[in-house]
Amino acid sequence: MSNSSNPDAVVALRWYDVPGYGHLQMVDQTRLPAVFDYLSYDSAAGVAEGIRSMVVRGAPAIGVAAAYGVALEALRMQTQPQVVFEAALDAGFAVLAQSRPTAVNLFWALDRMQRCRAQYSQDHPSQLAAALLAAAKALHEEDIRINQQMGEHGAALLADGARVLTHCNAGALATAGHGTALGVIRSAIAAGKRISVIADETRPFLQGARLTAWEMVQEGIPVTLITDNMAGHLMSQGEVDAVIVGTDRVAANGDVANKIGTYMVAVLAARHGIPFYVACPLSTIDLSVANGDQIPIEERAASEVTGFRETQWAAAGVQVRNPSFDVTPAELVTAIITEKGVIHSPDEKKLRAIFD
Ligand code: MRU
Repeated sequence: MSNSSNPDAVVALRWYDVPGYGHLQMVDQTRLPAVFDYLSYDSAAGVAEGIRSMVVRGAPAIGVAAAYGVALEALRMQTQPQVVFEAALDAGFAVLAQSRPTAVNLFWALDRMQRCRAQYSQDHPSQLAAALLAAAKALHEEDIRINQQMGEHGAALLADGARVLTHCNAGALATAGHGTALGVIRSAIAAGKRISVIADETRPFLQGARLTAWEMVQEGIPVTLITDNMAGHLMSQGEVDAVIVGTDRVAANGDVANKIGTYMVAVLAARHGIPFYVACPLSTIDLSVANGDQIPIEERAASEVTGFRETQWAAAGVQVRNPSFDVTPAELVTAIITEKGVIHSPDEKKLRAIFD
């Protein structure tokens, strides 16, 4: 079934091969941890809806899903006349690009698929579809490898016995496997270090409580769940040795956009002299945006703030804001951990240099 070489217990996405076509299967992360179930997708519009509704979420996982979304559309339409096939592909790219705005990995993955499309544009639709599927599979495999490399670089930053606070879910569920922030923790543990995790609950969508806690429990990694407003107290009591988070987009100057609440954690970490690390693949670094002010911040539904699922606890009729991400200024970032190594005190010069 799955053709990925993902060694982890938690696999967020898998490709189901059927000769000539196939399906993308994604764990429904909106239902975790109560229900563990894969949903099946066979079109770009379907995958786009899976991204929008956060069945799949986390910057690298969104990128991989979008790549498969393009391949699925090509496979679905490959027997149609050329003009119909091309129009469907255009529409597929467009609907995927509109699914979520902040994670640059989505646009990075779509760009890569457009380049593949251009390379095989003279071929029959079925050959182009096969090439697009191969490109999506390559991107999938590459993300697993990159997360493992990042983990190895980052593990060296953690001392034996470190108590590491993380925000949101930057784990296997948020990537093709291993994870960015949680990948560093997994690699440190694999290297023999005794690491324990403090997971911020991460209001309002609860990625910390529902997903990070679940991932860690699956693998027996010691994890303690706190509500977001407890982080400062724990830091003041000397109970946090390091913070590691993922990111959806890093601007050229090193400003970091990540799940709402990350900025608050970074300020607290600076106040208490605790290192604040950000783990991300190079595909999350967007040199085309000068600083964090230019990163689009997604606003999500008010219902995520006024309650959860069927339960609504806020007063009906209240006005609500729900920015889903915030920006941590580069000056608060101790280091960015990438597959190519660790960038201490990131700035534009260092970020540009890592691409050379
Ligand atoms: O809204 P989400 O759940 O997609 O937000 C995810 C995050 O903020 C992650 O920290 C980020 O994508 C990095 S994932 C490796």
